Amino acid sequence: MTEKVFPGLEGVLAGESAICDVDHDSGGLLYRGYRIEDLAEGAAFEEVAYLLLIGRLPNRIALSEFSERLRQSRPLSENMTAFLSKIPATANPMDVLRTAVSLLGLEDPDSKYNDHQANLKKAIRLIAQIPSALAAWRRFPEKPVSDPALTSNVPPSSHAANILLLLTGAPPDPFSEKVMNVSLILYAEHEFNASTFAARVTASSLSDMHSAITSAIGSLKGPLHGGANEKVMETLLEIGEAGRVEAYIRDRLARKERIMGFGHRVLKKGDSRSDIIKRYARELGERKNDRKWFDLSSRIEEIMRKEKGLYPNLDFYSASAYYLLGLPVQLDTPLFVCSRISGWTAHVIEQHDHNRLIRPRCLYTGPRGLTYLPL
Ligand code: COA
Repeated sequence: MTEKVFPGLEGVLAGESAICDVDHDSGGLLYRGYRIEDLAEGAAFEEVAYLLLIGRLPNRIALSEFSERLRQSRPLSENMTAFLSKIPATANPMDVLRTAVSLLGLEDPDSKYNDHQANLKKAIRLIAQIPSALAAWRRFPEKPVSDPALTSNVPPSSHAANILLLLTGAPPDPFSEKVMNVSLILYAEHEFNASTFAARVTASSLSDMHSAITSAIGSLKGPLHGGANEKVMETLLEIGEAGRVEAYIRDRLARKERIMGFGHRVLKKGDSRSDIIKRYARELGERKNDRKWFDLSSRIEEIMRKEKGLYPNLDFYSASAYYLLGLPVQLDTPLFVCSRISGWTAHVIEQHDHNRLIRPRCLYTGPRGLTYLPL
């Protein structure tokens, strides 16, 4: 009997989910039935996180309670800040986050429970505390542990503003806050991508939320997945000026190298999220009087479409938007975590609520029938 193998599980429907729908034809995206364009334009990230976790949009009261729970959950324990203070500033920030989530799991009051309500409480704490953990590590040793942005419940008004305050050290202007909010919404969820699937595989053995999220962070780190956004900015910085784009890209393509931020396993005709973040990257450049990165990026986009028939994915224009927001390049992928934690946790909850152990088969290609000779 010939058995069919699907390398990379390409095209395989590996389960059911009611969280998000990716349309491979149009590049469109729905979160629990709502168009990404409408959510990005009108919603706060907190509203979208609620939608993903709870399954419906909040009314005003529910949203304000949810936002307040996030705010209350932001401060880290003394143990956590002391631990993060010992991690060298040279560490890979994704390794720091993976480790921080493990530690948060040790401290979590619901760590022994995998039921729906316990998972929800863990999800809210993780969404709130991941940016704090990142900032606590980033600020050492330059800033003291008692930095008020880390230890108090005093608002910045939104999750987006809080992230920008924590990671740039200054409260954002309204447009920068809007761009961060849009980016958090766009990155929040994308069905069975590698990291979400990794989280679901771990959760499917009835392991816990924090174990599933550390699996996801490990998966997101790779440059074929979340690691792409920081590679995009490294490429833009390396190119440096418009006159060098053409030669640089053609040379890399001739050497069969990949240009990060292009292509997608599912979206072969374009990514609607890219169109949205592209508009904000352009406007940010105009407002900051620095169009260089947008101009370089759009020239690369033209060449890639013409030469390879490839379209930008969400990571491509996000990279220069983050750069213009004053965020260090090595935090680009961790920022993806700050958003995708909402989608990951929603998937872990869904997996636990309707669990079936994920355990596919493989086609064995090694030898058989070898004779064992004792040493
Ligand atoms: N730059 C240059 N060529 C690319 C490319 C890129 N970013 N992405 C795909 N290709 C080419 C491959 O080299 C291959 O060409 P070939 O047939 O001549 O060998 C062809 O397109 C198909 O590539 P394949 O790897 O089979 O597609 P995939 O569906 O497995 O890849 C990605 C999806 C995301 C892994 C791939 O597009 C990629 O590596 N992109 C860059 C990383 C990135 O941006 N990741 C974030 C994804 S959201």
